[in-house]
Amino acid sequence: MANTVLVGTQWGDEGKGKIIDVLSRKADIIVRFQGGNNAGHTVVVDNQKFILHLIPSGVLNRGKTCIIGNGVVVDPQVLLEEIENLEKRGIDIGNNLKISDQAHLIFPYHKIIDKLRESRKTRQKIGTTGRGIGPCYADKVNRCGIRLADLLDKEVFKKKLKLALIEKNEMFRKIYRHQGFSFADIHRQYLAYAEKIAKYSFDCAEFLYSAIKKRKNILFEGAQGTVLDVDFGTYPFVTSSNTTAGGACIGTGVAPTDIDKIIGVAKAYTTRVGSGPFPTQFSRKLLEEIRHKGNEFGATTGRPRRCGWFDAVVVRRAVTVNRLDEIALTKLDVLDGLKKIKICTAYNYKGKKYTVFPPNIKVLEGCQPVYEEHPGWPNATSSITKFKNLPTNARRYIERLEALLNVKISMISVGSEREQIIRKEK
Ligand code: IMP
Repeated sequence: MANTVLVGTQWGDEGKGKIIDVLSRKADIIVRFQGGNNAGHTVVVDNQKFILHLIPSGVLNRGKTCIIGNGVVVDPQVLLEEIENLEKRGIDIGNNLKISDQAHLIFPYHKIIDKLRESRKTRQKIGTTGRGIGPCYADKVNRCGIRLADLLDKEVFKKKLKLALIEKNEMFRKIYRHQGFSFADIHRQYLAYAEKIAKYSFDCAEFLYSAIKKRKNILFEGAQGTVLDVDFGTYPFVTSSNTTAGGACIGTGVAPTDIDKIIGVAKAYTTRVGSGPFPTQFSRKLLEEIRHKGNEFGATTGRPRRCGWFDAVVVRRAVTVNRLDEIALTKLDVLDGLKKIKICTAYNYKGKKYTVFPPNIKVLEGCQPVYEEHPGWPNATSSITKFKNLPTNARRYIERLEALLNVKISMISVGSEREQIIRKEK
């Protein structure tokens, strides 16, 4: 296995957790490079469901080194709870987890401001997960964030937290009519976290540089999806990090020349949580049907996901900005039994046809999808393990997607268990 980056090609929730779990078997090191506990990667092992928010999904394969890179924003409380829960369920974290000392930390004021901003009538509602992700990244770029390395130096931490709270508390009181935060409380709470987290802290870039020299196999685990990328997504209805393949380098300190392969994960249809345009959304009846069949409820917030037909314009965008080598197609089984299946190949907006993903949110909000219609397949696919054994129309659907995207689909997932995966021969 080469050094591989795995990214979502849609609006997140593509089923990356399962594919990462499958690929992790051949990897030595699995690294998260962006996002935070807004992610919820679901993996089912022997009928047991695990939902991972911060720790790389590779942790479910024994003995792998799991890294949280500098590009991730870490909520120490959530991290410690996740470690505890995994250990309770028999997953040994031991020395396998490492966290970049340059990763920025989420503080209580980030979470509160995330929610307060969302509830203000004068601001665009993004539909965030409310985990403080955006405000933490904003502080990072604004150069007033607090990193793990800062927390671990008592003097630096005290100074930085004091400075941060002077400004934040003024803002909370004056703009949001919120009482603000006590320095003493946060200081005490975070020093207690520091004691528990210190052992995981390390220099991510140096570690990965040596690992690459030793020819270790690294899997870079992306969170969210391409059209939630802060640069390439449906801005402002995006998350605050670079979810695309380039983010793997920035978020870990690995050079682009050390990346060998990029795999995109695409759901056989499309889903979205949070606000923002969604051109291929199903009408109500089909939406309910697919939502329940596909269990399309947010793994982090439990919010119902909007569901729609496969949007090839979106995934072609992902092919371009990630330069995908292959695609893993997930949840094909959810389409079993549909009489007709549509694929969106372009958008029509005010008489103009768009085959390339438009940057203007107005176009996405007001466009009419251009669909191709394909016959469905009545039989269940969830126990099929070979591509040739899939129903003819399912094979045709997959091959049509490959043609539209101009990328090979190398894996097809037909259920949540590890074994429910079809490797498609080249
Ligand atoms: P934030 O990342 O919490 O700031 O939320 C920004 C947008 O990204 C919202 O629309 C969220 O619903 C969406 N989002 C964040 N994380 C995920 C994810 O893991 N899957 C799907 N959508 C996500």
